Amino acid sequence: MPIVQIGDILEGKHTDKDVTIRGWVYRKREGKDMVFTLMRDATGVIQCTIKRDSPAWEETEKVTIESSATLNGSVKEDKRAPGGYEIACKELNIIGLAETFPISKDQSEDFLRDVRHLWLRSRRMNLIMRIRDETLWSVHEFFRAKGYVEVSPPMFISGAVEGGSTLFSLKYFDQNLYLTQSAQLYLEALIYSLEKVYCVAPSFRAEKSRTIRHLTEYWHIEPEQAFADLDDMMRLEENLVSYVCQKMAKKCKKELDELSVNAEALAGTEPPFPRVTYTEALDVLHKKGFKLEWGQDFGFNEEKAFAQEYGKPVFVYAYPKQIKAFYCKTYREKPELAMSADLLVPGIGEITTGGSRVDDKDELIQRMKEFGLRPEDYDWYVDLRRYGTVPHAGFGMGVERLLAWMLNLENVIDAIPFPRTIRRFYP
Ligand code: 4AD
Ligand code: MG
Repeated sequence: MPIVQIGDILEGKHTDKDVTIRGWVYRKREGKDMVFTLMRDATGVIQCTIKRDSPAWEETEKVTIESSATLNGSVKEDKRAPGGYEIACKELNIIGLAETFPISKDQSEDFLRDVRHLWLRSRRMNLIMRIRDETLWSVHEFFRAKGYVEVSPPMFISGAVEGGSTLFSLKYFDQNLYLTQSAQLYLEALIYSLEKVYCVAPSFRAEKSRTIRHLTEYWHIEPEQAFADLDDMMRLEENLVSYVCQKMAKKCKKELDELSVNAEALAGTEPPFPRVTYTEALDVLHKKGFKLEWGQDFGFNEEKAFAQEYGKPVFVYAYPKQIKAFYCKTYREKPELAMSADLLVPGIGEITTGGSRVDDKDELIQRMKEFGLRPEDYDWYVDLRRYGTVPHAGFGMGVERLLAWMLNLENVIDAIPFPRTIRRFYP
């Protein structure tokens, strides 16, 4: 008998046929003369019925939740069954009998995160991981179609990118090194050869903040481009986000429906996104009762409130230069403002930061000093301005924040299989 996938059965491909499935027991409900089990494999969950007079009865009585097994029987369409199909079981063979599974109904989010290695088997995590996979594929598709070259930056680095307070340091033989916070500086070196590059790689932040949007290890989508500026980046970002949303709405419609995510709303994500200056955004926040002075950075609450006002992704740009990084270029006529933009979304706030980079050597060295950095530590980075400098720009987007927004997740933790936070590094 052929081994088939449950997903195919649920699509009506094996109706009224005898099939074998293999997977795990998801649920088990015992009646007097009948047992209902839900079997799951990577592709779906299906109800199987085993009658007392079936040769499978003995194994069925033994089988426990999360045991692995093969099961064969005939596929029937049945409106009452979840998913619309059912297997009348003829034979059940246990592969690995499970001990009492620690996860049962109504357990706290915290407990489920403690047993993440087991909770990954849940339907919910299965669906989220599938959508994460498709999202990453679509990101690669997007950049490749536009001629960006994927590159592989290092994770061990010798100097900070995004400020010293969130650096993880580590012993590297007898030296001190850090884990990278962003590939940006290395991508900047690569544009002098390839012009348009991108990477999808881990970034590390020693974030003490325990919010719904902070991980200590997250996946970072970062393009960098020669002969480009902030406006080019905002266009690239809105096109990327729209492409991914529309693609997911089509390709993952079933998964989105099952997670109760509104696929039509995602499909409606279209460029252009509104663009608001920092100063204008500050006005909006003042009217909402926030007491922030010009020059102060927006926190989670401000960003959330501001994005809520729009109900869709919105750019905030032209920030005071002191709250942005040392490498941010400033406006020629307004040197107090950085050519830098954040993309804010409802529920999460910032999902990207990007903009134009300082391309003049002396200005870069000056900015480093203002930020308390030693230019000699970044001599290779200054070289990029010594030898054939060009105007250039890039941005970074957190994969988990993008997913948390698209899927209305309560916390970025649920967008990554093994989350790392200040408290969480096991399993
Ligand atoms: O705003 P950030 O710090 O910008 C950079 O790292 C730039 N060097 C990127 C670039 O221009 N190439 O980080 C970029 C994005 C944020 O907007 C957010 O989506 C995500 O990375 N991010 C985090 N995601 C989860 N947990 C954290 N602790 C994050 N910190 C940043
Ligand atoms: Mg940022």
